[in-house]
Amino acid sequence: PPVEPFQVPLPIPPVLKPVRTDASTDYYEMVQREATAEILPGYRTTIWGYEGIFPGPTIEARSGRQVVVSQRNELPVPVVTHLHGGVTPPESDGYPTDLILPASSSHDANHGTGHHHGGAVAHGTRDYVYPNQQRAAMLWYHDHRMDFTGPQVYRGLAGLYIIRDEIEDALPLPRDEREVPLVITDRTFTADGDLYYPSLDPTLQGQPGVVSSFANGVFGDTILVNGAPWPVLDVGTARYRLRLLNASNARPYLLALDPPPPNGPAFIQIGSDGGLLETPIPHDEILISPAERFDVIVDFGQYPVGTSVRLVNREGVGPTADVMRFDVARREEEYSEIPDRLAPEEPLPDPSEAVEVRRFQFIAGFFGWPSTVNFRIFDPNRIAARPRLDTTEIWELHADPEHPIHLHLVHFRVLSRNGGPPGPWDAGWKDTVFMRGGSAQIIARFSGYRGKYVFHCHNLEHEDMMMMENFEVV
Ligand code: C2O
Ligand code: CU
Repeated sequence: PPVEPFQVPLPIPPVLKPVRTDASTDYYEMVQREATAEILPGYRTTIWGYEGIFPGPTIEARSGRQVVVSQRNELPVPVVTHLHGGVTPPESDGYPTDLILPASSSHDANHGTGHHHGGAVAHGTRDYVYPNQQRAAMLWYHDHRMDFTGPQVYRGLAGLYIIRDEIEDALPLPRDEREVPLVITDRTFTADGDLYYPSLDPTLQGQPGVVSSFANGVFGDTILVNGAPWPVLDVGTARYRLRLLNASNARPYLLALDPPPPNGPAFIQIGSDGGLLETPIPHDEILISPAERFDVIVDFGQYPVGTSVRLVNREGVGPTADVMRFDVARREEEYSEIPDRLAPEEPLPDPSEAVEVRRFQFIAGFFGWPSTVNFRIFDPNRIAARPRLDTTEIWELHADPEHPIHLHLVHFRVLSRNGGPPGPWDAGWKDTVFMRGGSAQIIARFSGYRGKYVFHCHNLEHEDMMMMENFEVV
């Protein structure tokens, strides 16, 4: 149905309360279930949501304090929950075959899956343990079921997970209602307001995959921010901290402000996937691919009261060229500052200490051919790399044509692009690097836990089309 942009206020996902806390741990419970939501004004849309909402509730965690999330599956299909950006032990990382079977069919181990590829299968409920031994950062949790991640995230299985720490608390950054998470997705709706996803089997219980014309990504014509179409946020004349996540299946966005602020850059970047940068970086535009996060400050104090500022997507055409709107609605006192130094200086992984250089080539499939890593499709039983615990490695990634490449467990730095310096959006600790052809060298220290993890393209249709591999920290 046709929807006018800028008709609905920006919703903010609610923060989930723990059901119990003790000296070391906060315990949460979530139910994954079908629900209806009014996404387009006047229409009812069936979604699959954590706690029945899209995006799911936000978890606020403290660095160093453990979180346990009990996930109950009341959906008709298996699910897997992954904390993207989490330094998580392998048994809680949401390995694609570590399924939670539907609670309603907990006696039928084969329900809706056909085969399990030998994963650790839970019946109805699984507890995920997140140690949070990592710095402040905005992570997100989402479905990761083998072969079906694309359609299950599209139906709504994604939410935010924000880790905070003392270093960040001590900075004079915009906070409370001036700290705004923006979960950007694109969706297509049917004429009666339901989500449209071109699955080969819409029950998601048989044949995986999408009809072949969508094999390189399902792109929607409606942009949702925090689950609302092209929403509006009233702001005061002050700096705001926007925590951007691209949770779209396949679409990258080149974000800019229209009109741009009269003096200075549109965005001051203060953080990346893995938390605060050491020093802020100005940008007039930000290219954000699926799964990436950018933590930015926008100074609405530069606009007169009454100005409407659109967040636009310079790569979009027609409806996808707009994302949302900020209406500068009132005068407000400024209290925030952007310090020159954000995160404390820390030793970067040193290329001369790399004990291994590995090369991985990501090539998209066409016309029903799978997408591959080093010309192979995903096999849960094959390990492509065995980094040693606490050693540093350089991975040289090649992409054809365009892939956001994500590693579980580790955060890395981009060392170079096509033999030259990193790009304008490569700063800081990353867990996803967006590649448009060419090559990138990344460097990571494989610390945290031993065990088997995946790395893959975060274009979810590519991922489901097998563009995924295993590494095992040994
Ligand atoms: Cu955001 Cu392997 O996932
Ligand atoms: Cu890809």
